[in-house]
Amino acid sequence: MRNIVLTGFMGTGKSTVGRALATALDWPFVDLDDLLEQREGRPIRAIFETEGEAHFRQLEAALCREAAAWQQHVIATGGGALTFAHNRAAFEAENLVICLTCEPELLWERLAAATNRPMLDSEDRKTRLLSLLAARQPAYARIQHQVDTGRRSLAEVVAEILHLWHDLNGFTSPS
Ligand code: S3P
Repeated sequence: MRNIVLTGFMGTGKSTVGRALATALDWPFVDLDDLLEQREGRPIRAIFETEGEAHFRQLEAALCREAAAWQQHVIATGGGALTFAHNRAAFEAENLVICLTCEPELLWERLAAATNRPMLDSEDRKTRLLSLLAARQPAYARIQHQVDTGRRSLAEVVAEILHLWHDLNGFTSPS
């Protein structure tokens, strides 16, 4: 397998876990949203506001196809990316794809004050978060590997993913 790909709802810890995992493996870490913003020269919110979500999803899908061919990278996708079957398909054959999960109350604690999440724009952001999460649940559930990040230490989460990676790649896991 080429890369480890972390996905999951906003606030599940993709970037935090991804950075720590990359350090442990001595691989580069790439957050696809950061890369997209760099290439576009503007924040994701600006893309949503000028061209709309559909255009953002096209840019995101192109980046998923590109990243799926990298080697030995830890990749964090945006929270919506792998709710689309074509993006899951791009990664699934040759990459270890892991969906990070976390209980909704904790997600809300992490996201209540966030201003950089256009998908949560609403008069009632908490209701929006819960309904978007519920709508996406069936798509996230299609991802084979699920790792809970709620109320666990970063070290614990990273160790679980490293075990999985070594198991799938035929190395003996540290006990
Ligand atoms: C989105 C999540 C964001 C970003 C964009 C859309 C989503 O990424 O890709 O705002 O649809 O859930 P994070 O999950 O890193 O916040």
